[in-house]
Amino acid sequence: MCGVVGYIGGRQAAPILLEALKKLEYRGYDSAGIAVIDGESIDVRKMRGRLQLLCEHTRDGQDVPGTVGIGHTRWATHGAPSDRNSHPHLSNNGRFAVVHNGIIENFRQIKAMLEGKGYVFYSETDSEVISNLIQYCDQGDLVKTLLAAVPHLEGSYALGVLSLDQPGCIAALRKDSPLIAGKGEGESFIVSDIPAILNHTRDVYLMEDGEVALLTGDEIRFFNGYGEAVRKDIFRVSWDVSSAEKGGYEHFMMKEMMEQPETLRETVRPRLKEGRVDLDELKLDGDFIRRLSMVHLVACGSAYHAGRLGKDLIEKYLGIPAEADIASEFRYGSPILNGDHLLIVISQSGETADTIAALREGRRRGVKTLAVVNVVGSTIAREADHVLYTWAGPEIAVATTKAYTAQIAALILLSAYLAQERGQLAEAERAELIEGLEKLPELARRVLGEKEQAQYLASRYFNRGDVYFIGRGIDYSLSLEGSLKLKEISYIHSEAQAAGELKHGTISLIEQGTLVIAISTQKRLREKMAGNIQEVKARGAAVLGLVTEGDEVSAALCDDCLRVPALPDAVQPILSILPLQLLAYYVAALRGNDVDKPRNLAKSVTVE
Ligand code: G6P
Repeated sequence: MCGVVGYIGGRQAAPILLEALKKLEYRGYDSAGIAVIDGESIDVRKMRGRLQLLCEHTRDGQDVPGTVGIGHTRWATHGAPSDRNSHPHLSNNGRFAVVHNGIIENFRQIKAMLEGKGYVFYSETDSEVISNLIQYCDQGDLVKTLLAAVPHLEGSYALGVLSLDQPGCIAALRKDSPLIAGKGEGESFIVSDIPAILNHTRDVYLMEDGEVALLTGDEIRFFNGYGEAVRKDIFRVSWDVSSAEKGGYEHFMMKEMMEQPETLRETVRPRLKEGRVDLDELKLDGDFIRRLSMVHLVACGSAYHAGRLGKDLIEKYLGIPAEADIASEFRYGSPILNGDHLLIVISQSGETADTIAALREGRRRGVKTLAVVNVVGSTIAREADHVLYTWAGPEIAVATTKAYTAQIAALILLSAYLAQERGQLAEAERAELIEGLEKLPELARRVLGEKEQAQYLASRYFNRGDVYFIGRGIDYSLSLEGSLKLKEISYIHSEAQAAGELKHGTISLIEQGTLVIAISTQKRLREKMAGNIQEVKARGAAVLGLVTEGDEVSAALCDDCLRVPALPDAVQPILSILPLQLLAYYVAALRGNDVDKPRNLAKSVTVE
């Protein structure tokens, strides 16, 4: 996700901004920029690429005079990484500069409205509308202006704003995106992530959604949505810089798991509009959608597991055949492809060699391609005919968590959208699905908030030699992902089995004390799963169940249980995988493994 910083005080701003941005580099970014008030103008320096380029270009900021400034590292969402799309963005009259982290969901409408009034846009970003909207709402007072602009903005944002009419101030504002204000001796800061300013101050104010902060060198004032002054207490940061870089977590994996409520919200919410799933951004041809006769979902690793869930969703909602394939198998197989088919490739990095090869093979054979990708401007995003971005932000831990759940969310949206456009999504089904998707971030927060449950169970089972995951249907796809998560970071041998297939071989491996993780989250398959649980228990297995809340019958069959709230089947896997991610994490941590960088594995597999 993007990084936001701001400085105002007695020292030259640019070197401090660049140094703070360096501390945010670990979050991942593709471009960087700063804006500093210099007398009668705002000096903006921004460019695509490493921060080092910007440092070289400005002699580490020495070439940019001024003591009031804002800075940004961008992780592209709307518009590929480029100089123009980099932040800060100036308003048309050049009097306001803005840095933004988050997504403005209704930016197209705001842009159209402003274009109608003669405003010109120079970037493809959702963020540029903010600087021009601020100009449009100008009340001659920065706090009043921001409060006038805010009701027009839908989505999430952490903003830093400069105004030439109040050159001795920085304004800041947040909603659903992190932002804090820091107070030093005669100087003040804004920052999206505490470590960036820890070498200057440990005294910070934690901003609430909807609050505006007005910073001068001497003081920071806060205002609520009505423009009334709000008193806030200083929070003294006690942790050190290295732990803060992981947001206070011991590992990136934990940080990324805990970000899931936010990343799910970013991926889903902008695409739900007025009771319908809105993926018009894909620009898929209506005729093609109606003609569609088969879907191929192709990916590697966890993205393949997401693809398997996508297959079920396509078949359920569209009633046409769908196949999920491992990219390295697909490309050397003999898939039957034709002009009425859609090839969906799924990839976090957008750079996985086998997935790229499968995409190229599909294109070569004339099939329409759609990529579900996290990294904007990546090879897969550039080469596919259509792109549906997961807005999970940069993922650093090798074992994917937030990108995987965002992939499932994107596939739910996509299959529901295709069915809706074909007139196949019944009203009641659509309403149920949208309600489930809307509830997801809050329920995910709840499940992740109960992480001690998984921690306790990890402490009971972390020294097992072999683990078997079993499930049926979507729970089998989840078993594959749960098992992969566990083996890749704990190095415990683990396998996933379709529960009904156990008796055809794998059950011979079950003996006294073998750990079986049984996933049973679908009402219609509960009885069948109960039978499978009894089968392995009869052979001495210890069964750890993953069941939905209220399903006491299944719970009673298991030795231990992880519980998740029940949602419609289509959405359930996103919640159900969370305790399994946590379990894998705690088992690996208890075994003393390098959780973020497991042996022999790479985050992005760019070799075939
Ligand atoms: C590697 C990663 C996995 C990921 C897979 C596919 O194996 O460790 O977490 O699922 O590659 O990567 P992609 O970037 O294409 O999603």
